[in-house]
Amino acid sequence: MRVDVISIFPEYFAPLDVSLIGKARERGILDVHLHQLRDWARDVHRTVDDTPYGGGPGMVMKPEPWGEAIDAVLAADPAAQPRIIVPTPSGVPFTQKLAMEYAAEPWLLFTPARYEGIDSRVMAEYGARMRVDEVSVGDYVLAGGEVAVLVMVEAVGRLLPGVLGNAHSAVDDSFAPGAMENLLEGPVYTKPPEWRGHEVPEILLSGHHGKIARWRRDEALRRTARNRLELLAALDPETLDKHDRKLLSELGFPA
Ligand code: ADE
Repeated sequence: MRVDVISIFPEYFAPLDVSLIGKARERGILDVHLHQLRDWARDVHRTVDDTPYGGGPGMVMKPEPWGEAIDAVLAADPAAQPRIIVPTPSGVPFTQKLAMEYAAEPWLLFTPARYEGIDSRVMAEYGARMRVDEVSVGDYVLAGGEVAVLVMVEAVGRLLPGVLGNAHSAVDDSFAPGAMENLLEGPVYTKPPEWRGHEVPEILLSGHHGKIARWRRDEALRRTARNRLELLAALDPETLDKHDRKLLSELGFPA
């Protein structure tokens, strides 16, 4: 997968050299290209922002440098088109489902903004020609979109074939489609069996795979009921078995 990022802080993306994503890049699974937006500013001060039309606080990112920067990235492969992802707190929520959709794309272009955001005509211009998604990583406001891009690249990158390897698979993750859809993964344990008087739940030492799977599912349901009631409400009743329903009704949520 090719990933381009245009930002006034390309140095923000140093973490992409590290760990799982760094290795995916070394192995050629992920091809990251960072671009300095100011390279496409035309004045001596390399200005990329201006005051908002209609008044109000803050500054808005000017359309011209973004347009030229995006055109330059698009010119890298005129036969293809990237999916453009604009991080903004006003966007659609970034979810595991969207991460999986992005992981299936050959080319992503991220345009993280600073200040109050990018002049909306930039999204209109490219949205008329290709897929442009305005995406939020959560209901809070960051100082800029760079960290949101790191979040998305990490979530997408670990889903690319060959990145996680056989020892670790994404199928049991919280939110994974299938059995874990709308469920949070429960607690995990490793050796020693007792630490500071806390014991590992005995079932996990039993070697009984069926019972362990059932226990894990119970814990996932409990944790979801405790931490994320809105996810519990979104559970597909078709995916619940008799035992699930019994547990949920014990927890006070009759299915
Ligand atoms: N930029 C600032 N806040 C953001 C958020 N929550 N998600 C994506 N981009 C952002």
